Amino acid sequence: MTRMTEQELTDEVVARFDATPDDRLRTIMQALVRHLHAFAREVRLTDDEWMAGIQFLTATGHITDDVRQEFILLSDTLGMSMIVDMINHGSETAGVTEPTVLGPFYVPGSPERGFGESMIEFDDGGEESIITGQVVSADGTPIAGAVLDVWQNSANKFYAVQQPDVQPPTNLRGIYRTDDEGRYAIRTIRPTPYPIPDDGPVGRMLDATGRHPMRPAHVHVKVSAPGYRTVVTHVFDERSEYLDSDAVFGVKDSLIVSFVPGDDGLLHCATDFVLDPA
Ligand code: BEZ
Ligand code: FE
Repeated sequence: MTRMTEQELTDEVVARFDATPDDRLRTIMQALVRHLHAFAREVRLTDDEWMAGIQFLTATGHITDDVRQEFILLSDTLGMSMIVDMINHGSETAGVTEPTVLGPFYVPGSPERGFGESMIEFDDGGEESIITGQVVSADGTPIAGAVLDVWQNSANKFYAVQQPDVQPPTNLRGIYRTDDEGRYAIRTIRPTPYPIPDDGPVGRMLDATGRHPMRPAHVHVKVSAPGYRTVVTHVFDERSEYLDSDAVFGVKDSLIVSFVPGDDGLLHCATDFVLDPA
């Protein structure tokens, strides 16, 4: 009798899924097995290393609860969230605003804010800014009544949702709408870099691999309008540190903008959002 080879084992496991009734599930499970086996074989994974991996995933599950989602953070820091985003939300149309990660700090139900109204409800020294521009269709037509759901971290590095005892829950969150010419204006603070939560297994992974946990300064914006594809994106500050080494790989050149001082004492940032018709 000849011994089973590593390849024969892989083939046997893959074949065990041949009868999966759902075509898509079969495709996913068989590819997952092939790639997992290829990974173990490529690195010649040891018993101890596989056990360390299982312990890491166990710890990732243990720290996860209703508000802390360590698996998403793991997906983000492995670039998995961004690859799935690129596969599913990339547009073929030139000029359409590029998407990027949603992140764990989005909270639905932000307060409605008027045109140019401030979403600052807690003063911790951020530089007052105004972000303005238009929401337009890919052909340049202004979109009236588009909704911009906006959220960002405070100057102390934390989002309101991370600090329920410190910040008002709706600090630096707001829903803005475009006027008849498709214009919007968001009064806020200049964003600042901040670390993703790094006191759990993902933080230990970053530390062990010599990676930092920082994200470059950004404002999150989810832009939607009837008849158009919703885009979840960021506005990145071009003067921020970490644009070249975002812990979650979310930076795209087209999303980097400048904040420039105006005569009114505010920093001004001008950027348009271009939507793809649905
Ligand atoms: C964020 O930008 O809010 C974020 C994205 C991914 C992981 C952690 C935070
Ligand atoms: Fe963020």
